[in-house]
Amino acid sequence: MFLQRRNRILRQSPAIRSLVAETQLTPNDFIVPLFIDEGENVHSEIASMPNYYRNSLDITVKEVKELWSMGLKSVLLFVKAKDETKDNKGTEAINPNGLMQRSIRAIKDACPDMLVMTDVALDPFSSYGHDGIVENGEIVNDATVEVLAQMSVSHAEAGADFVAPSDMMDGRIAAIRQALEQSNFSKVGIMAYSAKYASCFYGPFRDALDSAPGFGDKKTYQMDYANRLEAVKETIMDVEEGADIVMVKPALSYLDIIREVKNAVDVPVSCYNISGEYAMIKAAAKMGWINEEKAIIETLTSMKRAGADLIATYFAKDAVRILGH
Ligand code: PBG
Repeated sequence: MFLQRRNRILRQSPAIRSLVAETQLTPNDFIVPLFIDEGENVHSEIASMPNYYRNSLDITVKEVKELWSMGLKSVLLFVKAKDETKDNKGTEAINPNGLMQRSIRAIKDACPDMLVMTDVALDPFSSYGHDGIVENGEIVNDATVEVLAQMSVSHAEAGADFVAPSDMMDGRIAAIRQALEQSNFSKVGIMAYSAKYASCFYGPFRDALDSAPGFGDKKTYQMDYANRLEAVKETIMDVEEGADIVMVKPALSYLDIIREVKNAVDVPVSCYNISGEYAMIKAAAKMGWINEEKAIIETLTSMKRAGADLIATYFAKDAVRILGH
């Protein structure tokens, strides 16, 4: 055959493939979610997330130092609140000596350059397992936003670099920005979970924090996965309200949304490679049905190719190791 163009020329060796690769993963791409528990020397594997652990603070601090030494530069903190501290007002969420606040202080003490991002939502602290305050079976918006703003200030006081509201209440980014400004935390950033969908893939995370909703589901605040334009609207509004980084969540079934959002805003876009996505790869690999390392790198690369500047992922350490950084 005479062919004017032969696309296989650029695929014929590892050298030429790496030369023309459009997307590269590096440790700078990753945010590492951490689950923190009360107690000492607690290192408990999450049943639905093999090889991922809920650690007490002493172990978490060691882990953070190791992450830093691997070139990982940001952590996203989640805490497991004790049952007896849970209520319908988020009291424990704003406790200056709560586990989250103590964790932020201890991590910044031990590893001051590590960027500490904190989850802002009421679900781990809610007796109903919902992200907001419940009244007559409904998750009320404005009263919840007030607590989320207080919670953000309390994280900033403890030393957080970024707060990451994951609750999907209306108007919370503006309220949090204003509260941070009023408390002189003008350097604290907001990573907004802007397009967060009501997803079945959050299951393992809710096991990890014992935070599954006690009644109903989260569909009156998290987005319907049938929708694309709504994600653009949510994200643009969050940027207007003062979000420094926006997020699409989950990631794998939402690569189109990541691209759509990336094209629509002028701030960095993150995505969350969530617990159910982790569990799927782990389970299939355990059965011997897929190659775990290849699946990790292929899926993370697809997220970056879709437009994610940052990826929150439970695979961050694995990826750094596999990539040989
Ligand atoms: C809660 C929150 C959830 C996740 C992050 N923050 C769960 C939910 O909305 O029910 C999920 C993360 C994951 O599945 O890895 N505000």
